[in-house]
Amino acid sequence: MVNLVTGAFSFSGSYIAKEMLQTSTRIRTLTGHIREVPYSDRVDVYPYNFGNHEALVESLDGVENFVNTYWIRFPRGSMTWERAVENSRLLFDACRDAGVRRIIHLSVTNPSLDSPYPYFRGKAQVEEHLKNSGVRYSILRPALIFEIEDILLNNMAYLLRRSPIFGIFGTGRFKVQPISQRDLARVVVSEFKRQENITMDTIGPETYTFMDILKMLNRATSSRTLLLPFPGILRWIPFVMSKLFGLLFRDVLLTRHEMDALRDDLLFTNSEPVGEISFREWIEENGDLLGRSYAHELNRHYK
Ligand SMILES: NC(=O)c1ccc[n+]([C@@H]2O[C@H](COP(=O)([O-])OP(=O)(O)OC[C@H]3O[C@@H](n4cnc5c(N)ncnc54)[C@H](OP(=O)(O)O)[C@@H]3O)[C@@H](O)[C@H]2O)c1
Repeated sequence: MVNLVTGAFSFSGSYIAKEMLQTSTRIRTLTGHIREVPYSDRVDVYPYNFGNHEALVESLDGVENFVNTYWIRFPRGSMTWERAVENSRLLFDACRDAGVRRIIHLSVTNPSLDSPYPYFRGKAQVEEHLKNSGVRYSILRPALIFEIEDILLNNMAYLLRRSPIFGIFGTGRFKVQPISQRDLARVVVSEFKRQENITMDTIGPETYTFMDILKMLNRATSSRTLLLPFPGILRWIPFVMSKLFGLLFRDVLLTRHEMDALRDDLLFTNSEPVGEISFREWIEENGDLLGRSYAHELNRHYK
């Protein structure tokens, strides 16, 4: 038997892969991007064969635990929200037909079938598909996940290092409960032993406002950038600025839905923390590495 994590060379999947390799000699992955990493020779790689059920089932032969990180941050071209939901369902159906014992699925805090935000609505639809798949499951719902490869944190630091003013879309008082990738990977692997189905928020030990995070980033990058809130309707000013930066970098920095979901506190819950690693301590130790260069979302996922 073998365990599989999707996207073993991407952001969450790479940390989960390394955690899995602590106790396994080999693991398996499904991915659209093969990257050279120190553990590459211990990963058996298969494509996301969404169009070919038999091939997908074959690639899952002998898999005991299937860790699903598959999702999109925003739609682009033929990759729509509907397609991402449908692809997730195809993965779960293939798991069932291949006899996978358990699916450990990364969702997000506050998914809802009624959400006005397609990311959160799609996540709720995917959770429904998983619950109806007939395979045992652990649904983990992280808020913001942090590590050095995170695109959003890096690019906020990038702008803080270079701009005298950073406009915040709103008051900056909206709350976030960041969890470390290392904590998340540990929780994912501990779910391999669970018997029953479970759905749980997977948040870090501290709650911050968005303004707190920007202040910490400012300090860690030795920037003296003025953090300027643009409340109410004025929030469109920094949003349009982010669009202009996007044009400059030929990338997407922030979507309108991400802005509004953050402002609606959707990365905040009243649940007990499961992470142990302090975001504040991490940023004090690693912040200097953030924002040295720009992290390109479209290059990472659409090339
Ligand atoms: N990052 C966060 O702060 C955060 C917060 C809350 C919840 N989550 C959830 O945690 C999970 C992992 O997130 P992540 O940020 O770590 O993702 P990621 O590693 O960048 O991507 C996860 C997987 O999805 C695939 N993927 C991503 N965008 C795609 C696209 N546009 N088209 C096709 N495939 C795509 C990747 O493909 P490749 O293998 O080809 O790269 C990878 O296999 C997701 O379910 C996400 O919703 C993340």
